[in-house]
Formats: sequence, structure tokens, C-alpha cells
Amino acid sequence: MTTILQRYEDLHPASLRLHQRAVKIFPDGVTHDIRYFTPFPLYMERAQGSRKWDVDGNVIIDFVMAHGALLLGHNQPQVQAAVAEQLQRGTHYGASHEAEIQWAQRVQDLIPSAETVRFTSSGTEATMLAVRLARGYTGRKTLVRFRQNFHGWNDNMVGTPDKEGVYPHAFGVPDETLSNVVVIPQNDPEALRQTLRDEDVAAVILEPTGAHFGAVPLDPTMLPLMRETTTDAGAVLIFDEVITGFRAAPGGVQAASGVTPDLTTLAKILAGGLPGGAVAGKREIVSLIEFGAGDRSEFGGRIPHPGTYNANPLSAAAGVAALDAVATGDPHRHADGLSRDLVGKLNDVIRNEGIAGCAYGHASMFHVILGAECPPVKDGFTWDWQGQPGDRMPRMAGDIVWALRRGMLNEGVDLMGSGGMISSAHSAEDMNHTVQAFRSTVRQIKEEKLL
Ligand SMILES: Cc1ncc(COP(=O)(O)O)c(C=O)c1O
Repeated sequence: MTTILQRYEDLHPASLRLHQRAVKIFPDGVTHDIRYFTPFPLYMERAQGSRKWDVDGNVIIDFVMAHGALLLGHNQPQVQAAVAEQLQRGTHYGASHEAEIQWAQRVQDLIPSAETVRFTSSGTEATMLAVRLARGYTGRKTLVRFRQNFHGWNDNMVGTPDKEGVYPHAFGVPDETLSNVVVIPQNDPEALRQTLRDEDVAAVILEPTGAHFGAVPLDPTMLPLMRETTTDAGAVLIFDEVITGFRAAPGGVQAASGVTPDLTTLAKILAGGLPGGAVAGKREIVSLIEFGAGDRSEFGGRIPHPGTYNANPLSAAAGVAALDAVATGDPHRHADGLSRDLVGKLNDVIRNEGIAGCAYGHASMFHVILGAECPPVKDGFTWDWQGQPGDRMPRMAGDIVWALRRGMLNEGVDLMGSGGMISSAHSAEDMNHTVQAFRSTVRQIKEEKLL
């Protein structure tokens, strides 16, 4: 019997050769933690629509979709044309330009809380800026985060203390910084109330779907509670909509839920697949960046915010074109429908194969758990968080995750972790292929006695 791993190695010799060069240059041979893959990652040559082609000529249905940045699929014609047109006129003026205004106006039109916009180069920069603004605005230090919620890799955002109070993933961050961060469970109203009572909280930041774009779903009653309690405590409420902005709905989770944060961090779809991020929100907070802010008695200082690639013309051009498509709502209707259908069929496979696990989703984002008992999946799609412990996600064993990802790649499907992002370029045929790939991979994992 050929194992999943042997088949992976047999199918991808050219990727292995590139990896052997890369390990001499990059840590682990990769350029992003999420691209780390054993025994070696695949190297891509080109992409179009829902697919990408690797250097061995394998065609792959892509559910990574640029780490979530491509709601419209690879090389969407309007985005491609806008970038090509901008290229003719220059890539960077080191100056203001009209496309940045058009881009910000699209953000304002779509995102309910976007009174003011400031562009950054990435989501990590956006969350870093949002917290700085909140601390400046409130004059307080404490940042409240929720377990497993991801906000990039800046010093304030990494690490969750274990039972001994040690932050395993915050190596290199000064204790002084960590002492100003409190991490609590996301679905625990009392922990939130108590923290807001006991600490001098500057900001509460969260992924408004729940951790990892809804892998650990947020109890929907938490959003209004967060709004109410942060307002009462005079703390700034930050929705990190880097993934969910323009995807959970054209106006993000805040438009779908009707709960409006003070600040929103955006990136990914914002820039149509090119680098870019933003902080959007209340003028009275974001205006701390203004040069006159230091003279205003209520602030007593200003927050400098340079950045060579802020609002760069190529990202602005791609962003304008992408957000015009987002505004129609058509990409969401298509991708969300496929997502619901896919999740239902993946659950059928799990049931028919008689294994523990489940699939569930939120809009065009889906998640799969194998080899662990799942909570009930409501309406065939949504993880029913009711009665589930605070923020615990059933964990897939590491060897099952690797077998699933390698096995799916062998069948021509690239997952993001153990789930993925669906775009408007995916088709029903892609979903059928994915379900077959999943069935075949699950059977191989069973044969290898991992499930
Ligand atoms: C919710 C969330 N916030 C922030 C970030 C960081 O964004 P970036 O990778 O652009 O720095 C990410 C990245 O995946 C994210 O998912």
C-alpha cells in the first residue's frame, strides 16, 4: 500500500527540489508560519479563478485563497485590469493620489463604523495601530483579548497565558508588555464584566465571528454585551475584521449583526489580493493621528503614523475594483451558498464513514474536525455553541491534520489549516471534486489507522 506521505513525495518532486534550495535561505524554508509544511511545502507557478498550478503541473482547487484575501478568486478580471492600468501610471508616488480617496470611500460605504479611515500595509499593522489609538484616547494601558483569537504578530497580540501564567507563544515579548494584556475566554460574560470592572481597560479586541474566523464560534449574545459593557467602562471596542470584513457580509460582521464597534481593523479583501490594511472608526479616536491633536487639551499628545506603503496606488487600484464587486453582494450569495452545500456534504461523508468529527461554517468560511467529538451542527451548517464550554475547540490530533492536508493535496485540493475560504470563482464542480477528495482521503487515513 502506498501511504499518503509516499504519494505526496511521488507527486511533487519539483517542489522538493525548490524546498531544498529554500531551506538554505529561509527559516524552515518558508516565508510565513502558515506555509510551513512537512516534509516540504508545494511551490506554485500560476493561479486562475479557483485553481492554482504547482511546479509539477498538478492542478489544485484552492481554499487558501491568499490566506483569505481573495473573495473573488485569482486574477479576477476587473481587479487585474485595474492593477494593469495603474501600473502604466506608476507604482508609488510618495505622495497623495485620488485612488486612495476612492478606496476609503468604498470602505466608508460598506463598513458601518468607518467614519474615518487610515490605511496601513497589513493586518498586523492595523491591529497595532488600533491598540495604540485606543491607549492614547483613553489614557489607559490594559488591552483585553480573547483566547485563541488571532490578531497578527505584534507584541500586544501574541501569546495566551497557560495555567502557570506563562505565555508560550510570546517568547521575546517583554514582561512589561504582557503585564498590560489580559486574555479571557470569549464566551464568558462574567469574565468580561469582571475584567472591565477590575482593570483599567483601554480596549477590548476580538474576532467578531469567534476565534480563527469562527473555528471557535462566538456566542452571538456576546457582541451586544461587549458593546454595552465597553461603553459603560469607557473602553474602546475593536472588531478585528481583517478576515471577516467584506467576507462575512459586504459590511462585515458589524453590518450583519448590527453591533457597531468604535474601531475596526481591516486587511486582506480590502486590498483585492495586494498588500494593505486599515483602521476605520470613530473620528474622535482616529483623529489622534492629526498633527493638531497634541494641542488639544482632551488628548495631550498625538500618535505619529508613517508607513512607506500606506495606501500605495497598486493596492488602492485593486482595492477599489474588489470593493466594487463586494458592494453588489453577488460574490457572497454565490460563495456562501457553495459553503453551506459543501459543509453538508462533508458531514455526510463523516457520518457515512462512521468516524468522529464534523464540518461547520460561517458565510464562505468552513472548518473540519476529524477524530474528535464535535458539538452539534445546527441547520447542517452552524456549530451550535449553546451549552459548550467557553472557548474550547475539539482538537484534531497533529498527525490527522497532516494526513488530511497531504491527502487532500494528493487529490488536488489545498485546505487552509483543516478548513478553508470559498470564493466567487469556485464552482459546484469544484465542491463535488472536493467532497470526493475528502471521502478518498478519509478512507486512506482510516487505512493508515489514524482514524
Ligand atoms: C483576524 C486577523 N487579524 C490580523 C491578521 C494579521 O494580518 P496580516 O497577516 O495582514 O498581518 C490576520 C491574518 O491572518 C487575521 O486573520
